[in-house]
Amino acid sequence: MEKLLISTCLLLQLISSYSLSSNENNLNVQNYGAKPDGMTDSSGPFLQAWGKACSSSKPVTIHVPAGNFLITGITFSGPCKNTDIKFLIDGTIVAPSTYLNLPKPNQWIAFDSVEGVSINGGTFKGRGEALWNCKSVKHHHCPDGAPTLMFTNSKNIAIKSITSINSKLFHTVILGCDGVTLQDVNIIAPESSPNTDGIHVESSTGVTIFRANIKTGDDCISIGPGTSHLWIEGVNCGPGHGISIGSLGKKGQGLDVDGVRNVTVKTTVFAGAKNGFRIKTWGTKSRGYVKGVAFINAIMKNVENPIIIDQHYCPDDNGCPSKGSSSGIKISDVKYVGIHGTSASQVAVNLDCSSSNPCSPIGMRDVKLTYTNGRSQAYCKNARGISLGLMVPPSCL
Ligand SMILES: *[C@@H]1O[C@H](CO)[C@@H](O)[C@H](O)[C@H]1NC(C)=O
Repeated sequence: MEKLLISTCLLLQLISSYSLSSNENNLNVQNYGAKPDGMTDSSGPFLQAWGKACSSSKPVTIHVPAGNFLITGITFSGPCKNTDIKFLIDGTIVAPSTYLNLPKPNQWIAFDSVEGVSINGGTFKGRGEALWNCKSVKHHHCPDGAPTLMFTNSKNIAIKSITSINSKLFHTVILGCDGVTLQDVNIIAPESSPNTDGIHVESSTGVTIFRANIKTGDDCISIGPGTSHLWIEGVNCGPGHGISIGSLGKKGQGLDVDGVRNVTVKTTVFAGAKNGFRIKTWGTKSRGYVKGVAFINAIMKNVENPIIIDQHYCPDDNGCPSKGSSSGIKISDVKYVGIHGTSASQVAVNLDCSSSNPCSPIGMRDVKLTYTNGRSQAYCKNARGISLGLMVPPSCL
């Protein structure tokens, strides 16, 4: 009997030392049954590890080792007892290649109502190709698809050194969050891929994007209503549709639209992008504002619209407000400083503002945008402000 007890003790000791790599504070998803074969759905095991981390009162690291882990769809939800949960990802998370009958049609990897979550490393393969093909056929009924990574109603989030490839819809969505840092993010999708915005920020405050390489089929960064205190620095964009504020005032957003304020974008390189810095609003009566925006130090390489404000935004001429209607969104305190490079179209600076709410004040300093096939031009409509220093094209303010 004694012998048996001793050997049981030894066995327990062995088990506990074996599982050191997956002790209480360090959970390896493979110990929950996740398979690195790229074929077995690991959503369940990931969720089990999450449940453990979420209910712990100590800091926990969830480790995803090397290999391909298939996730059909998952929501990591809070609120949690834990405000220090780290995902350490060495491997690749892959989506199903299909876009039909996904468990959650509008979510792939989602976090909701969490606090103090960080993601460190990892590659996310959205496998959007089949859905893009569906969308490329006119009048074909296709689902919207799901963003690769989505954070909603969350606080103190840090995303670092991740790579997102070929998302079905947006690569990253930050919605209703307070305090989010994205750092050293790589985003890759073909120029022709539809709705694959790189990073979308909306109804959020205190978001920082620091160093990102974004090549995609839609906006590199899109900034939706209700965004404040956003800092963007060190982004390379292109191909892509640029860094866009809006669109605001689309039909269905209601008569009062949450405004966008205090946005700084510093040290950006746009290469072969459709737009550089863009602010877009629909010509609807919806009221709102964009104010306190600084675009500082950018290089434009062959960008179609390096600087553009479009208050008559209506893509594809679909459901446009009647001609002559003007936007109820007031754009004020926007400055462009140190913007250099080449424009792929003659009108390098295009400020097309609302007749009922002129853009004012707009400031420009040290802007030099040239056009290969002639002199570059600036166009202003309902835009007021001042320009200082070197101005190519000559200022229209
Ligand atoms: C603007 O946002 C930045 C963070 O991006 C913050 O440090 C600064 O205090 C904000 N300024 C104002 C006036 O709120």
